[in-house]
Amino acid sequence: MAAEAGGAAGQRRIMCVGLVCLDIISVVEAFPAEDSDTRCLSQRWQRGGNASNSCTVLALLGAPCAFMGSLAPGPAADFIAADFQRRGVDTAHVAWQPRGEVPCACCIVNASSGSRTIVLHDTNLPDATARDFERVDLSQYKWIHFESIPGARNAAEQSAMLERVERYNRAAAPGRRVRISVEVEKPREELLPLMRRGQVVFISKDLARHFGYKSAPEALQGMRGRIQPGATLICAWAEEGADAMGPDGELVHSDAFPPETLVDTLGAGDTFNAAVIFALAEGRSLQDALTFGCRIAGRKCGIQGFDGIV
Ligand code: ADP
Ligand code: FRU
Repeated sequence: MAAEAGGAAGQRRIMCVGLVCLDIISVVEAFPAEDSDTRCLSQRWQRGGNASNSCTVLALLGAPCAFMGSLAPGPAADFIAADFQRRGVDTAHVAWQPRGEVPCACCIVNASSGSRTIVLHDTNLPDATARDFERVDLSQYKWIHFESIPGARNAAEQSAMLERVERYNRAAAPGRRVRISVEVEKPREELLPLMRRGQVVFISKDLARHFGYKSAPEALQGMRGRIQPGATLICAWAEEGADAMGPDGELVHSDAFPPETLVDTLGAGDTFNAAVIFALAEGRSLQDALTFGCRIAGRKCGIQGFDGIV
């Protein structure tokens, strides 16, 4: 048999498409009062953004992975690119923009509670387009995860990217298809149709609450009509763990695995998503994947950053 692009099926990679930003994190002992002048315990720069964080976690779990999103040259991008490289995340498909600024978030992590308060400056950096995505050799990927990015234009571009993967899958042999997951985190009208495009769909507590649901199981029941038949819907709910509805409508739940001390929940959801994708891509059951996601996310909440989650 001729060698296939991307090597044997097991060697195909996971790609995450979405946001990368610079997180400037101040770790505090207590949340500061407005207009106060205080000292923090420590400060660090960290590569952030949901898709970017999920790549960090996939790499730490040992999955070959790639990131696709936008960057613009400058000191923030230098830091980010070096960090991707350090983690072994493939950045060949980063869409380098000739102008614009890399988004930056000032984050306050309260070491006494683990809470994270994020203030993101979402700059006007253009996002990766369907045209950029045309260059991706889909035969090299077993899974592509899309973090839906607000904005009508982005939703249209992501829809076109999804269309390309769907077309590819219709022509591919079953063992060579690319699994598609979509995360809808922000309660924005233009993102909701993307829920119908993923075989695995992650919805956030924020989105669920926006629709008036008070728990993950309630959200799954209420929003199941928005996904495609046979898809899996997953909703994480912080200390309550996570729930999912599988292809046949079966409900599964995992409790959270709270660490001894909650110190940093920044990127807990991204960690959960990555760990669930990792487990499902390995062929594990939905229940196993959900439990694994909560276990790894719980570990993340007990440490600063991502080193030490495995
Ligand atoms: P985010 O707000 O970062 O999107 P979520 O609140 O959706 O994260 O949580 C994702 C997962 O992280 C949860 O399913 C849970 O397993 C874990 N997690 C988050 N917060 C806590 C917490 N306070 N205690 C234990 N586990 C948590
Ligand atoms: C965490 C995160 C941060 C980033 C923010 C963007 O989930 O991705 O790294 O600053 O969310 O919304």
